[in-house]
Amino acid sequence: MSPDYLARRYVKPIVFLLCLLPAIWLALGILALQSGNMNSSAALALGANPVEKVQDTLGIWGLRLLLVTLAVTPLRVLGGWPKLQLFRRMLGLFAFFYIALHFLWYLFVDQAFNWGQLFGDVVKRPYITAGFSAFLLLVPLAVTSTQRAMRRLGRRWQKLHRLVYAAAILGCVHYWWQVKADIREPLIYAAIAALLLGWRGLRSLQRRAGAQQAQSGARTRGPGGERDAGKDQESARSRAPVQRLADQPPA
Ligand code: HEM
Repeated sequence: MSPDYLARRYVKPIVFLLCLLPAIWLALGILALQSGNMNSSAALALGANPVEKVQDTLGIWGLRLLLVTLAVTPLRVLGGWPKLQLFRRMLGLFAFFYIALHFLWYLFVDQAFNWGQLFGDVVKRPYITAGFSAFLLLVPLAVTSTQRAMRRLGRRWQKLHRLVYAAAILGCVHYWWQVKADIREPLIYAAIAALLLGWRGLRSLQRRAGAQQAQSGARTRGPGGERDAGKDQESARSRAPVQRLADQPPA
């Protein structure tokens, strides 16, 4: 059995179910409360303010999964686990799933579907402005997450999906700004985001420096260096599949 088959056939469905667990747990709690079963553990977990608890749980899982999605590439490269790539789209879509539910919960349950009040909040409360902007950035990424969109957009797809970095930063800011006293938790999330984005920034600087070096090397070799240039091209070709994998879209 190939590692690819194992990952797709067995590990992916397990990861799928794990990602779904918080939503199932919340749904069970809400159903139990609605049917008056106050003593079930799922209902008790929603505490004294279930509306706020559901809102917060959806938000925190959205942020966690967004950061896990961003961690896939560094873990793949540093840990040498190429198969991790197979999970990235699913994780990203789950992050969007929780964030969209978080937004819809706010709109329908908290604001009773009052768009005017929602936009008032977006304008007046900076943490909602940050959260809403992050959500808006994620919408085109979710819409273009299909293979077809990837093929149609080509390299533009990669550029578009860099929006995920801004969304992660805004998500952390949103969390930070709403905390009144103890900033330890948002600080941890912000530090993880900074680490993941910092790693990407460094890698892109290294790549750029490498490309410039290769260019200036080819220039200084001049016509006599043709044989070497040929060798370079050959080795670049043999590196191409790996490079293609490394160059895959961000997130
Ligand atoms: C990328 C987008 C977003 C992320 C990652 C995110 C994440 C979070 C997190 C982590 C929390 C705190 C959870 C906790 O305290 O345990 C939270 C709370 C909250 N978020 Fe978001 N959020 C996002 C977008 C939005 C949007 C679009 C809205 C509404 C327009 C919104 C409204 C709220 C509200 C009202 C709270 C609760 C504040 C409170 O408990 O006082 N969020 N969000």
